[in-house]
Amino acid sequence: MDRIDRILQDFQHVNRDALIPILQAVQNEIGHLNSEAIEKIGDHLHLPASKVYGLATFYNQFAFQARGKYHIRVCDGSTCHIDHSPHLLRQFHKLLGIGDGETTRDGMFSIEVVACLGACGQSPVISINDDFYHSIKSGMINDILDDIRMKNP
Ligand code: FES
Repeated sequence: MDRIDRILQDFQHVNRDALIPILQAVQNEIGHLNSEAIEKIGDHLHLPASKVYGLATFYNQFAFQARGKYHIRVCDGSTCHIDHSPHLLRQFHKLLGIGDGETTRDGMFSIEVVACLGACGQSPVISINDDFYHSIKSGMINDILDDIRMKNP
């Protein structure tokens, strides 16, 4: 029995109302929702995999690819949004060539948009793994990425 099966065992005798908690539990365990996870969850809830995938894509908390070695969270809560977080996000998209919820081909970076990182007084805020970056300006992003690349030649 694998990790997904073990999680599904905790959700016995449930209906489709349990879909979101199951998706969250599986993502917490394996880091993202791959096609195997989507199919197993669909079988468990007697839902077609296409339906499970369609519902999961509605919520931006779910990732469908493995996260990068460096997982970037860009806060787009209201304070950060006012302080131009969409511009920062576009900058990441452009520099990394990936969109939200995606991972670079080399597995180095992934991007997630989050609601609030809890540091609104220092907006806009991003985090990369466990490191927080405050009062970010778009001109700083290239340097941040270059620093990481230099640590990973
Ligand atoms: S809104 Fe961005 S840290 Fe709170």
